[in-house]
Amino acid sequence: MDKIVIEGGRPLKGRVKVGGSKNSALPLMAATLLTSKKVVLSNVPDLADVKTMLRLLQALGVQTRSLFGRVNFAATKIKKNEAPYDMVRRMRASVLVLGPLLARTGLARVSLPGGCAIGARPINLHLAALEKMGAKIKLAEGYVEAKCKRLKGARIVFEKVTVTGTENIMMAAALAKGTTVLENAAREPEIVDLANLLRKMGAQITGDGTSQITIEGVDELSGATHRVIPDRIEAGTFMVAAAMTRGDVVIEDIDPLHVDALSQKLRDAGAEVQVQNDQARVIGPKVVRPVDVITDPYPGFATDLQAQFMALMAIAAGTSTITETIFENRFMHVPELKRLGADLKIKGNTVVVKGVEHLNAAPIMASDLRASACLVLAGLASKGVTEIHRVYHIDRGYESIEKKLRKLGARIRRAKVKY
Ligand code: EPZ
Repeated sequence: MDKIVIEGGRPLKGRVKVGGSKNSALPLMAATLLTSKKVVLSNVPDLADVKTMLRLLQALGVQTRSLFGRVNFAATKIKKNEAPYDMVRRMRASVLVLGPLLARTGLARVSLPGGCAIGARPINLHLAALEKMGAKIKLAEGYVEAKCKRLKGARIVFEKVTVTGTENIMMAAALAKGTTVLENAAREPEIVDLANLLRKMGAQITGDGTSQITIEGVDELSGATHRVIPDRIEAGTFMVAAAMTRGDVVIEDIDPLHVDALSQKLRDAGAEVQVQNDQARVIGPKVVRPVDVITDPYPGFATDLQAQFMALMAIAAGTSTITETIFENRFMHVPELKRLGADLKIKGNTVVVKGVEHLNAAPIMASDLRASACLVLAGLASKGVTEIHRVYHIDRGYESIEKKLRKLGARIRRAKVKY
């Protein structure tokens, strides 16, 4: 078990390159199940969740070879049709193999993911859509079993915007017979990235990036080569870090459009945000202004940046409100931020943040991936030495975050915890 130790109070300065998107790499990897031909993905981030997905695909029979972020996949023959509990419990995104496995082989058994720290996170919308496409769905002993000789196209109206739900059904529909129309589809950049890979493989997809996606099923898909888009959440995390520490940081290899909602809010908070081509420069303000935020599906303010932005508001000169509309329990960072001296009050799905002059170091504990990122940011802006325990959460979504922050001048290191 590791901890991260941060001596706060130093401005971040310099340039940092963002890695490939975790939430794009995972569906792209699942899509390799749809063809027996070779698929090559580049800019794949070296993260715990990516390693889990690799192990799951290998268990299903996919041959993989990874070298410096470039991964070859060959699902020549599917050996197994089951995603076991001990893998799915580690990573809910394992549910992304359900659609492609069912479309490719006619049978998929995936352990129900169970809840996670931020909420119940059911997959009912994924299952209802597959049923509409002709799949027989059975729930038994904690597994969902989906069977269907060949899925048929259907019109699916998602009653809630679901990112992995949209991805699962888009992949399943690519090999279905006939046309599938997804209404109220997710519009995240990761959906468009997956559609781009599927089109390279021969799928007929239009409307990705809008709330209506149309997929004409084909009989089989070919191989392809594709670069994973940059991680907009990692980019946003570094942008907030610069704003919190009165820093001056250039974040490289990003798509500025993907961080537009955050850029606007950082400007409202007094930061200077200059975007051009594939870079964003963020100069932190002397005084942080309070700004209200409500999370929303893309292109709204990302729920995955809610905790990080709350850390910034904790040291603003005034009161702001942060409202979480996507998940029912995504305030696990609040009690930890309060240990650092933040003045926060939870009122339903809103936190009222009363800015304080500065935060003070204390030992704290990470609870989930984005909460741990928030605590690292808070540690960077706290007076004194902050220790963050259970940092395995952060390794799921950030590749060597302490190395990247040290390069920007942060006094941060990882240490073993002797329990
Ligand atoms: C994806 O999760 C991301 N994960 C999450 O990132 C992200 O927070 C989330 O989208 C929202 O943007 C990946 O892409 C791997 P949803 P996902 O289905 O797809 C409810 C991170 O930190 N819902 O869009 O699981 C659900 O409970 C992670 O990188 C149903 O009710 O989220 C939630 O309240 C955390 N039934 C809302 O919809 C369903 O069948 C949005 O969930 C599906 C979802």
